[in-house]
Amino acid sequence: MKLTKKLLLATLVSGALTANAFAGTVEVLHYWTSGGEAAAAAELKKSLEAQGHEWTDFAVAGGGGDNAMTVLKSRAVAGNPPSAAQVKGPSIQDWAELDLLINLNDVAEAEKWDAVLPPVVAKVMKYDGHYVAAPVNVHRVNWLWANPEVFKKSGVEVPTTWEDFFAVADKIKAAGFIPFAHGGQPWQDATVFEDMVLGMGGADFYKKALVELDEEALGGKKMVEILTAFKKLKDYTDPSSPGREWNITTGMVINGKAAMQIMGDWAKGEFTAAKKVPGKDYICIASPGTKDAFVFNIDSMIMFESKNADNNKATKDLAKAILDPSFQKVFNMNKGSIPVRTDADMSDFDDCAKLSAEDFKKSAAAGTLVPSMAHEMAIPAAVRGAFLDTVTNFFNSKNATAKETAKKLVKAVKMAE
Ligand code: BGC
Repeated sequence: MKLTKKLLLATLVSGALTANAFAGTVEVLHYWTSGGEAAAAAELKKSLEAQGHEWTDFAVAGGGGDNAMTVLKSRAVAGNPPSAAQVKGPSIQDWAELDLLINLNDVAEAEKWDAVLPPVVAKVMKYDGHYVAAPVNVHRVNWLWANPEVFKKSGVEVPTTWEDFFAVADKIKAAGFIPFAHGGQPWQDATVFEDMVLGMGGADFYKKALVELDEEALGGKKMVEILTAFKKLKDYTDPSSPGREWNITTGMVINGKAAMQIMGDWAKGEFTAAKKVPGKDYICIASPGTKDAFVFNIDSMIMFESKNADNNKATKDLAKAILDPSFQKVFNMNKGSIPVRTDADMSDFDDCAKLSAEDFKKSAAAGTLVPSMAHEMAIPAAVRGAFLDTVTNFFNSKNATAKETAKKLVKAVKMAE
């Protein structure tokens, strides 16, 4: 086709060339496939396309992302990684070490990432002094989601301690409801377990056990007590719990089959997608014993260097879009999380998000802001894997004792070292 003045004018008017003269394609590997997640991912796609680029979707189903990480590794080994992938926490450093990632410093400098990101977040996104990942949000892991109707019909209040939890759960069971909606998958077991470690042990104990991997904390009396309570939860789940996806499980609280779920605030994305209103149709409250603390889980994208310069430019434009204030707002409203930018305006967010933003700041000041073990924020992938196996096996075993499981946690650290 010959480029004539008329044609150029026509394309300019249609907008095809106005957005970006160097259009590229960005293949994005992610695991945002539930209702709320997909709505959020669609916003990311939209903001890339608004810059004239093309989005190739590479969604790998499976909550918590363990399936996605397996696929990512095989693509990388085959020498064919996607342009961007949803990778977080210490794993970002592992990928950067392989020298496959784009240096995002020029984007970060132009967009002033250092000034708008909490230092604890910026540190995780950098390798060897330069940015290699773009953070999307802050998820809080220590939430309890409750159906107020079910509580009303059972004649009980939403629990704030683990002691209350079990007393209340007995009454809900007697009233004919499923007290505890739980999806029995390793990462979901670990999510509940870490919230219990925080709720029964406190933030210092959590840090010792699940961040510093202190032998005494992992193998001691407190851990045995926590594991015992954790196992007891099984009595309050339904027979279809094993293997169930988290969002199907959230659906049970939404439709009033079950009273409560303990899950990070991506669960709120499901309530939002179902057009439910917090405080009216559902309740969000810190998981038992954790109202003064915050388990954080930050989603981020790493960007792989391609041989195609236009695609690299497009990938960088995706990084830029991720931190854009209006994208941060619309994405996080759908996702259930809060913006990662410290200057975000929270006024249009719902009450759960407002509480999350307040508690994030308060717990950072109080020293009770802790990284999620279950969601790959705290410890090396190999140790996390061993912890998840240990916790899940214990939860599902008829014979394993809390005492021997605590010892296994200590062993898991040693073996992974
Ligand atoms: C991710 C969330 C995701 C959730 C369920 C978490 O580890 O951080 O973005 O929604 O898993 O898949």
